[in-house]
Amino acid sequence: MPGFSKGTVIRLLNGERICIMDRIGSGATADIYKVFNMDRKCYQCAKHLYGEYSNDPEKYYEKLRVFIKMNRPHELFVWGYPEACSAFDKKTKSFVYVMELLEGFDDLRGIIRNPEMLSLKSRIQICLNLAEAAKSAQDRRLVYGDWQPKNILWKKNTSGEISLRIIDTDGMSFQGHQLGLAGTGKYRAPEVMAGGAQTLQSDIHSLATLAFRLLCGRHPLDGKLTRSEVESPVNIMKYYCKQPLFIFDGSENQPSELVRKRFGSLPRILQLLYRKYFSRGCLLGREERPDYSVFRNAHEQAMKQI
Ligand SMILES: Nc1ncnc2c1ncn2[C@@H]1O[C@H](COP(=O)(O)OP(=O)(O)O)[C@@H](O)[C@H]1O
Ligand SMILES: [Mg+2]
Repeated sequence: MPGFSKGTVIRLLNGERICIMDRIGSGATADIYKVFNMDRKCYQCAKHLYGEYSNDPEKYYEKLRVFIKMNRPHELFVWGYPEACSAFDKKTKSFVYVMELLEGFDDLRGIIRNPEMLSLKSRIQICLNLAEAAKSAQDRRLVYGDWQPKNILWKKNTSGEISLRIIDTDGMSFQGHQLGLAGTGKYRAPEVMAGGAQTLQSDIHSLATLAFRLLCGRHPLDGKLTRSEVESPVNIMKYYCKQPLFIFDGSENQPSELVRKRFGSLPRILQLLYRKYFSRGCLLGREERPDYSVFRNAHEQAMKQI
């Protein structure tokens, strides 16, 4: 999709005009721009969405309906939340929405690459805040659908406190009304990898995977599969569905070397929680994943122990 050039003016459905400044991000189905709102006289962020809409403008209307119906589920979602939209452009089969512009933030990938850049306490606090936001979405039966490090921005304030922002809210849907998006790579729940719909349960898996990586710096399947293997359908079937040879095999009393390496640094209560999330029962959908209250309690207790 050819992008907008600098200086292009777009009129939104509310009558306001935005002027394209710079492109600040790109994904598979969208580009992100810094824009100047000529009527409000302030900078904003605009997301130009294409891709999945190409053959189906009805999806655009469906998305607008979802945005209108769902109130911002939690303050952490506010910054990624659409404030106004353009009309659907039939020629390019795309549309634009604007939101507040975030500046001076990084995404969570840096912390995953180097978890020691923050204390374990700070990382647990991030997990707690995300779980709280996830719970508010869940209470409204909203599936976020894309818990992964690139969609969470963070910044350390001068006081040392960490601020979080959840972006990329346009994939949100009400449970049972998925908009056709399938999340990201190895953060997807096994049932989603195998072609199933996203649900409140699959969101829990994705958030647990993200939290685990923030705490340990690794994916729960690291070491078992290589990077490229994880996402191939053959391996998904092999490891998640047909032969569940999970890293969590090995008895409670004698954890395997792999398990020790991965969990050794975590407080015991978190070791138990994450073992449960990535146990055969939860991965294969035979057991419910521990909910956000259990998640919160375990992380709060861990916080007190360190
Ligand atoms: N509100 C915002 N303010 C500043 N930058 C943003 C904002 N929303 C998104 N971005 C930037 O654009 C990138 C892609 O945005 P995202 O909504 O996640 O798109 P995609 O759907 O392609 O994943 C983000 O990683 C971030 O760098
Ligand atoms: Mg994204």
